[in-house]
Amino acid sequence: MEYIVINGQNPLKGSISISGAKNAAVAILPAAIASGGVCVIDNLPQIEDVCNLVAAMESMGAKCKFENPDTLVVDTSKITGHTLDDKLAKNTRASYYFMGALLGRFKYADVPLPGGCDLGSRPIDYHLKGFAALGATCIQEHGVVKLRAEKLRGANIYLDCPSVGATINIMIAAVFAEGTTTIENAAKEPHIVDTANFLNKIGAKIGGAGTGTIRIVGVPALGGGEYTVIPDPIETGTYMIAAAITGGDVTVENIIPKHMDSLTAKLREMGCTISEGGDWIRVQGASALRPCEVKTAYYPGFPTDLQPQMATLLCRAQGTSTITENIFEHRYRYIGELKRLGAQLKVEGRMAVTKGFCEFTGARVIASDLRAGAALVIAGLCAKGQTVIGGVSHLDRGYERFEEKFRSLGADITRIQRDS
Ligand code: EPZ
Repeated sequence: MEYIVINGQNPLKGSISISGAKNAAVAILPAAIASGGVCVIDNLPQIEDVCNLVAAMESMGAKCKFENPDTLVVDTSKITGHTLDDKLAKNTRASYYFMGALLGRFKYADVPLPGGCDLGSRPIDYHLKGFAALGATCIQEHGVVKLRAEKLRGANIYLDCPSVGATINIMIAAVFAEGTTTIENAAKEPHIVDTANFLNKIGAKIGGAGTGTIRIVGVPALGGGEYTVIPDPIETGTYMIAAAITGGDVTVENIIPKHMDSLTAKLREMGCTISEGGDWIRVQGASALRPCEVKTAYYPGFPTDLQPQMATLLCRAQGTSTITENIFEHRYRYIGELKRLGAQLKVEGRMAVTKGFCEFTGARVIASDLRAGAALVIAGLCAKGQTVIGGVSHLDRGYERFEEKFRSLGADITRIQRDS
């Protein structure tokens, strides 16, 4: 078993380079299945979710080769399989993007229901409604979604909520629908724009990505091409919050500052000094953090994927703060473990309240999901004494070499193997 061991209270100092965006990479890789050629995808983060998706692509006949650790050459010209292995599908929620890619290109897809972080029910009804609007029939048998279509026809699709996954999945399938498809009430996250830009690079005709209305003009096929994935806004935010909670001075480099606006505003409100340039942000923590109110929302609002990390920081503020989770119904499961480190957070429905002034002290804790793990690391970095974190595999799904990156900023953090 692997554990992360942190001896806390070292202020983080220095600069780190941010890796490619997990939630863009896990959409672009399945989308490459829709290409009929060779794609070169650069700036892929070296994380478990990418490895799992590459294995899934190879299981369907794609030829994948890493030219270097973050550049993948994938040839999907010879893909025959339309069926995804159940084990491979369960490893990540993003496996559902194979539905849109296989349905679009082959009009035939057998994809098991996805895995992913346990944040509540996480249905995929909007995805399936979108595929049906494009002309597909969809049945679920033994946990497998079976999609078939004679052909796909453009449609006007309105999403009940701006679902990231449904927006991207329907967009991929609609690339091959005859005529024009519009997706109304579409999600606007940066990784949606990134996936649309990748698809356009290989021959798609997508406009409006990043706005609430995306228009896709159908094309008969896609070719190959080269594409570079955007930097990860959630990895960026995690390090910004870690700098703030340790009273450090950290510059995150190779990023898109605009993507961080909602967090930058909150850190400034809490008293941190934030400066930014073309592709970097510097965070100088404040000796006394001011309390504030945070509400998660769809982009460009405060991202739900930074909610656990932000809740940890708010515990250290000098006064009462609230954080309201508006996206997922169960995204406070991490609080039990965080309390073992000294957090005082009370959940009332969708809101968590802390009186602040929490003193974190080291303890043994276990990560329950990816961002919960990030919150425990952040708490351990500012805790007095030693923190031992289990469930490291959750962190490895979405954070590339995180203990190396934190160590390069002065953190006393190591990864150890233990029998229990
Ligand atoms: C994506 O999940 C991300 N995952 C999540 O990141 C992220 O938290 C989420 O978007 C919101 O930004 C990937 O990109 C792989 P949604 P997704 O569809 O697509 C409901 C991380 O930590 N909904 O935008 O599953 C759903 O239950 C992960 O990196 C339906 O009801 O999120 C949720 O309440 C965690 N029916 C809300 O919409 C549907 O068909 C938003 O979900 C789809 C969604």
